[in-house]
Amino acid sequence: MNASIWEASVPEQAFDTLTTDMDVDVAIIGGGITGVTTAALCAEAGLRVAVLEAYRIGRGTTARSTGNLYATIDNQLYALANKWDARTALEVAQSRRSAIDLIASLVQQHGIACDYREADWHLFAPEDDHEAIDAIEREQAALRQAGFAADFIDTLPIGMQARRAIVLPAQAQLNPLAYTAGLATAVRSTKCQFFEHCAALEIDDNIIKMRNAIVRARHIVMATHTPKGFHPIQTELGPYSEYGIAAPVDTPLPAGIFWSLGQTKHSLRGFSYNGQHYVMAIGSKHKTGQAEDTQACYGALEDFLRAHFNINTIAHRWTAQHFRPADGLPYIGRVRGQDNVYVASGYATDGLVYGTLAATLLCDEITGKENRCAELYSARRFAPLKSAGDFIKENTNVAAQMAKDLLTNLPETALENIQPGEGRLIEYDGQKAAACRDAQGQLRLLSPFCTHMKCIVHWNRAEATWDCPCHGSRFAADGSVLEGPALHPLQRVDA
Ligand code: FES
Repeated sequence: MNASIWEASVPEQAFDTLTTDMDVDVAIIGGGITGVTTAALCAEAGLRVAVLEAYRIGRGTTARSTGNLYATIDNQLYALANKWDARTALEVAQSRRSAIDLIASLVQQHGIACDYREADWHLFAPEDDHEAIDAIEREQAALRQAGFAADFIDTLPIGMQARRAIVLPAQAQLNPLAYTAGLATAVRSTKCQFFEHCAALEIDDNIIKMRNAIVRARHIVMATHTPKGFHPIQTELGPYSEYGIAAPVDTPLPAGIFWSLGQTKHSLRGFSYNGQHYVMAIGSKHKTGQAEDTQACYGALEDFLRAHFNINTIAHRWTAQHFRPADGLPYIGRVRGQDNVYVASGYATDGLVYGTLAATLLCDEITGKENRCAELYSARRFAPLKSAGDFIKENTNVAAQMAKDLLTNLPETALENIQPGEGRLIEYDGQKAAACRDAQGQLRLLSPFCTHMKCIVHWNRAEATWDCPCHGSRFAADGSVLEGPALHPLQRVDA
């Protein structure tokens, strides 16, 4: 996968890998913002903690986010109030505000150098789009109702035209990788350990098995964006991919979060490192594994930036995946049927704040402390009336995709016809195969059946990955698991 601007801007920080078995109070699978913050809070509460990260601490989805922190949500607070009620929207906005305050206090407490700054959040319609303008007006009212000072403004501080715009003051932004890796570095100790390159291969009630070690724990937290293995929550989550680009600019953008609504739904912000200023745009959303041309998604973002900013080149390109919950709220807490296993999932694109909020909820649940938001976000909740529409939509989509892929006859393709950078689903030796050739010309043949639930993976040319359209598992060109619920790599096919 391509490196994000955050990965390019933060020097590598190495954490140990785990080679011996160990016993802890809390084992956390996943070293993103959720896992690291949960570890920090649990350690502070006196628990022995181990964080087990499959790759690098902070360098997964956290390092592919926008770095923006805001009390509202990407699907708009007014829409959440319509689905649930005004009280729920208020609790969501206020609990998210508390999570932003927690990040600010952790930055200060540990002196984390992560470019944290206060920033106003803006929502604007660049064109005369009645639907977008209506949504902006509703969002302003919902934010006001939740007690936030959201106001209409005539002009945006970044010079873009806006037909209608609102501002919500005193939100924040940071470098999410510098923050997460910095927090892990600050809190690590013999009782709070962080391990890299240790992917969970099997998760039982109290045991996590990895290639080189076993961890036994009283509590297991899956801070993996979506639960690992099979879990009913996966039927309530829609996996989506988004794209990010950053282009050098001559003058720095003012602090601020800028979301456009209408024909384009993009998030804009500025960032500077090594003396260079950048404007970045994130958007071009689609269902994971279901875009015909993923490179065109970068192209659309680039066109948008070129239309509004004076840019010459694109310095960074990256993608991120998110999981949208059917009823509009994340799933955080104990899973059904297992009292010592916890999840935190369904953040949509609001994961930095929800991840931090999840850490407080998980730590409170583990330590037996009451939390007034526990029920609202409970992973055991049953809200069929709220989730029915999206639940049916997502699962119909999964079933249709599965049927289409299984019934489609694949072409028999001569392997030498597969070009460098190209991946194809083919019929090979009487069986379906996923074939790709890397930039150096090396051919790889894999089984195309996702090791989670056997959907067929699709080639993502922009990122050189095999992406599963069902529940968001993503695999590298060599078949290894990059993210998602799959625990095991795609099987090799002998060529
Ligand atoms: Fe579930 Fe692939 S992620 S089948």
